[in-house]
Amino acid sequence: MKVLIVGGGGREHAIAMSMKKSKRVDALYCVPGNAGIAQIAECEPSIGVMEFEKVVAYAKEKEIDLVFVAPDDPLVGGLVDALQAEGFRVFGPNKAAAILEGSKAFSKDLMKKYNIPTAAYENFTDPQAALDYLETANMPIVLKADGLALGKGVLICNTLEEAKAGVKEIMQDKHFGDAGNCMVIEEFMTGREVSVLSFVDGKTIKAMTSAQDHKRAKDGDQGLNTGGMGTFSPTPFYTEEVDEFCKKYIYQPTVDAMRAEGREFKGVIFFGLMLTPNGPRVLEYNARFGDPETQVVLCRMKNDIIDVIEACIDGTLDKIDLQFEDNAAVCVVLASDGYPEKYDKGFEIKGLENFDGKEDFFCYHAGSKFDANGRIVTNGGRVLGVTATGATLKEARAKAYQATEWISFENKYMRHDIGKAIDEA
Ligand code: AMP
Ligand code: GLY
Repeated sequence: MKVLIVGGGGREHAIAMSMKKSKRVDALYCVPGNAGIAQIAECEPSIGVMEFEKVVAYAKEKEIDLVFVAPDDPLVGGLVDALQAEGFRVFGPNKAAAILEGSKAFSKDLMKKYNIPTAAYENFTDPQAALDYLETANMPIVLKADGLALGKGVLICNTLEEAKAGVKEIMQDKHFGDAGNCMVIEEFMTGREVSVLSFVDGKTIKAMTSAQDHKRAKDGDQGLNTGGMGTFSPTPFYTEEVDEFCKKYIYQPTVDAMRAEGREFKGVIFFGLMLTPNGPRVLEYNARFGDPETQVVLCRMKNDIIDVIEACIDGTLDKIDLQFEDNAAVCVVLASDGYPEKYDKGFEIKGLENFDGKEDFFCYHAGSKFDANGRIVTNGGRVLGVTATGATLKEARAKAYQATEWISFENKYMRHDIGKAIDEA
């Protein structure tokens, strides 16, 4: 079959690699793609993920059999619906279901209504009401812009003054645009954060192996929040006991709740979980694969990804025996120095050929492109996700860091402590 992937980052490169392994895929296409994806798929860099008409026209032109919509913006904006209206088979939630990620107020209300464990909260559309509420609230406290904000619309405030400034930033100064028309104020939770991605077919949910992200820019979880500086999988903190609890009280109840609301969810639900002293709680839902979680999860999956995707679309996921290798993976993001603020790009990336022919090393491109001379150059804050598998997390980590040395570009920056938490486990 002919498959089109919508997106162009490290996550999409990992999805493309997984599809490349499938015996059922004859040709792969990607919009807009990047220089790494272009090595295994036909890319169309001129089409943006929010240009729905162009995406639909491209899918028609290439006679695509299956479309995979990966990023949050087009999912929340309804690209799945636009493609389905033209008769395409599509993997990903429709607009009605993607609201699970698109509105934090919606997801909090859903969890409250269906008794899914999460932080206590209130939703606000009036800044004055939010300010009044803060006067008697316990600190620290967490403010969240309701809508999509590139993963940056969350403020953790230690004092009343900070929290008041946060309300101004989100709701009055509209730092995150319309995402801040509504705001969630929620209880601050403590514990270890883990990510669990899951396949969903509307009724059945199958969790993938666990992962852990490192969101801050600098070593020791210092610095600004980023899209993610590195991941590892599995995480030893996600024990069988935690898994059992989550399946019973979080995963299945979420899928059932969406169905009960007339918003049947098909695709991937990414559960951001906090393992608090009182048990697992939902931090957030995403309606898609995570980036860079996908890079360490899919390379460990044994199933043919197309079989699983089709089962999600057809409602037959109960027939799939989802299996992962009994190994580990670590992904270290090579970024442009200065990310997530100001950084230069356009520098030649050298050493990519070192990954050729190595089964346990992967170099996923996140922000790369071909320049006018056909050289591969940096083209974003996060540039590459250098990933390795190994028998243990320690081994995978050592290998991933070894492989980061194979790559050079002028302003290469990375964290040096990805997966270090495992040493404490
Ligand atoms: P989110 O986008 O909702 O996952 O929030 C981004 C990050 O903020 C999370 O990964 C957590 O590290 C932190 N965070 C969000 N909500 C809370 C909370 N209620 N308590 C403590 N930390 C939080
Ligand atoms: N790595 C976090 C995310 O994809 O939202």
